[in-house]
Amino acid sequence: MDGIVLLKEDHKTVKRLFREFEKTHKTATPAAKRALVDKIIKELTTHAYIEESIFYPAARAGVPETEDHVLESVEEHHVVAWLMSEVAKLDPSDETFDAKVTVLIENVEHHIEEEEQEWFPEVRKALGRSRLTELGERMQAAKPKAPADPLALMSASS
Ligand SMILES: [Fe+2]
Ligand SMILES: [Fe+2]
Repeated sequence: MDGIVLLKEDHKTVKRLFREFEKTHKTATPAAKRALVDKIIKELTTHAYIEESIFYPAARAGVPETEDHVLESVEEHHVVAWLMSEVAKLDPSDETFDAKVTVLIENVEHHIEEEEQEWFPEVRKALGRSRLTELGERMQAAKPKAPADPLALMSASS
């Protein structure tokens, strides 16, 4: 699969989970909220892992003009990784829980928007179809190797 298509599919998956959180968080039981937010953390951590270990370095090397974008993206991952690590340990009945998840969602949506609108089109043009397919295959294969702990992401300690 084309690497950019794969990343966009991941974005759609997390956005669907975000909408579910927004629709249900006021009425859901703490256990249901825990399960949903843990799923969000797992999806986002896996996505960030394949981007940081495969896609970002390849894009940075292939499209040096977008290096600033890559550096900014890693800092955005950094913020989200730390937010995820807080929310992972926080009791869903805590009064700050929904607020933290909401800020997490806002950060990720901004990040996704920038990747898809400003950056992916340039990367697609520079790397071309066969290179993107190769990256897509490598990222798909790397997914099971993603850490469970968001703080194990490279961006968390960058
Ligand atoms: Fe990203
Ligand atoms: Fe992404």
